Amino acid sequence: MSSAPPVLDTLPMTLPRLAECKRLGEPIVMVTAYDHPSARVADAAGVDLVLVGDSAANVVLGYSSTVPVSVDELIMLSAAVRRGLKTPFMVSDLPFGSYEASDAQAVATAQRFVKEAGADAVKLEGGGKMVDRARAIVEAGIPVMGHVGLTPQTATALGGYKAQGRNADAALRVAEEAMALQEAGCFALVFEAIPSAVSEELMYAMEIPIIGIGAGPSTDGQVLVFHDLLGYTEFGGARFVKRYGDVMDEMVRGVSAYAEDVRARRYPEPEHTYSIDPGELADFRTRLKAA
Ligand code: KIV
Repeated sequence: MSSAPPVLDTLPMTLPRLAECKRLGEPIVMVTAYDHPSARVADAAGVDLVLVGDSAANVVLGYSSTVPVSVDELIMLSAAVRRGLKTPFMVSDLPFGSYEASDAQAVATAQRFVKEAGADAVKLEGGGKMVDRARAIVEAGIPVMGHVGLTPQTATALGGYKAQGRNADAALRVAEEAMALQEAGCFALVFEAIPSAVSEELMYAMEIPIIGIGAGPSTDGQVLVFHDLLGYTEFGGARFVKRYGDVMDEMVRGVSAYAEDVRARRYPEPEHTYSIDPGELADFRTRLKAA
């Protein structure tokens, strides 16, 4: 039997197709990517959405949280991902401090991601005033994905990196933020680290696609961080992470084997070297001596 994907799956993902996935109950797959090779992997694997997450701060730039990453850094990574994608829809995170101050700031930053990195959409975190920021960006013609529950950019204010909505008041706050972002025109939302039962209740009110991460199985889709799912990190990750590979171990094995070969003079071998015509070599030697 052929394993070729259906023709539709080779067409670029669009907002109408995404809405159609929700309507048909087809699970939506999102993964993060931060550079050209990870984008090529996501593309070849046939995912629907690629998020250039500000998790780049932790997983590729070595910061201890997502807070320090700059607009310029995320634009550079987003542009590299863009060059690697053919069919997935690309969403770029707006970094902390680049959209909260005013609608004008939010629109100007979102426009940079679209113009300079080719983002299809941007994502921002939180409710409250961020609902106005989302609405302003949508009104400027740029699709916005919202993000509620655990919002890492403001994790300190939330009491740390922990699940949200675990009592009735807190769950209601998540619900109000989600509904306000939907009403503001977001095309989709991320639900991060909220109890499965709370997500399940919320799904009845959500008309736009909901992508979960640590939000249980009832959401329309799932997202995981590329490095977490492939084991391309030394850290175990959050409760919701499932590992589908051990890339880090394999990379350490490969680089160690290379180091051993160099130290034992086993690399390079003849097939890794270039030749020169013997006459040219003799001429070169003579002229080198005379030089
Ligand atoms: O930055 C990120 O990777 C994210 C996902 C966890 C949704 O926001």
